[in-house]
Amino acid sequence: MNKAFTAEEYLALINEALDRYVPLCGDERDAVTLAMRYSLQNGGKRVRPMLLLEFNRICGGCVQDALPLACALEMIHTYSLIHDDLPCMDDDDFRRGRPSCHKQFGEATALLAGDGLLTLAFSVAAGASLAPERTLACLAELAQAAGYRGMIGGQTMDLQHEDQTIDADLLRQTDRLKTGQLILAACRIGCLAAGAAPERIAAAETYAENIGLAFQIVDDLLDITGTAEELGKPIGSDAEKNKSTYPALLGLNESRRLVRALTDEAINALACFGEASFLGAFAEKLANRTN
Ligand code: IPE
Ligand code: IPE
Ligand code: MG
Ligand code: MG
Ligand code: MG
Repeated sequence: MNKAFTAEEYLALINEALDRYVPLCGDERDAVTLAMRYSLQNGGKRVRPMLLLEFNRICGGCVQDALPLACALEMIHTYSLIHDDLPCMDDDDFRRGRPSCHKQFGEATALLAGDGLLTLAFSVAAGASLAPERTLACLAELAQAAGYRGMIGGQTMDLQHEDQTIDADLLRQTDRLKTGQLILAACRIGCLAAGAAPERIAAAETYAENIGLAFQIVDDLLDITGTAEELGKPIGSDAEKNKSTYPALLGLNESRRLVRALTDEAINALACFGEASFLGAFAEKLANRTN
């Protein structure tokens, strides 16, 4: 297996590459480039690119080959956050510890910065130096996860459920799409880029589905119990918008129990990888995070 990486090492690699992938144009187009760079820089936990790189590594892939795919996924995630904060969506003024993109640059530029990151993601991913059929499979995966049957579909459902009481099944479906799909794509793309065997891809999916749902439940819990300083984004936003969330539906304690059970399930799925201590610890870290 390839050399192990710490989370700090992954973070440094990802941040350095993201910076390189969004160069300034040196002309008036930089009105949008600056907004793209602003939203992409610092403060992000880089959960999705780290998952992608680690699954790739434990399946025998090379980190430099998978790095463009990891950055592409982080660009799509960042675009989803820029649009999620817009007044027509969650209307939140802070993100990653500073004013949201539209507060800093205005709504039109924020919209374009999101569009710019989404399209740049596909151009960066297409440049991955993998066998062409692997790159193609990863591009299809990105498009599916980000699209109307994936994250966009989930965001649509999330908005439609404001001011409504929905049941646990519908909430799970919404979260599986709006948050789960990009996390699933991270784990699957990591495997696909390394040419992993089907049973490993299936195990990665089980891990991803469980941490993906747990991730959104923790996000909803932190919107109630966290602090804006630590989170880098406002608290109380879900209650203000009357969002359907797990804590609203099941209460704090039951939501916490669910996070625990999903995390255990995710860790159990790692058995077929042999050495997967990073991913086990990562699932725990995500369950117990405060930001
Ligand atoms: C926030 O995602 C939005 C959700 C999907 C819950 P993250 O918690 O990964 O945000 P960053 O990237 O660290 O800012
Ligand atoms: C957002 O969920 C999921 C996305 C696809 C962006 P939230 O709306 O709960 O994310 P935060 O709390 O604003 O980060
Ligand atoms: Mg939202
Ligand atoms: Mg939001
Ligand atoms: Mg939230």
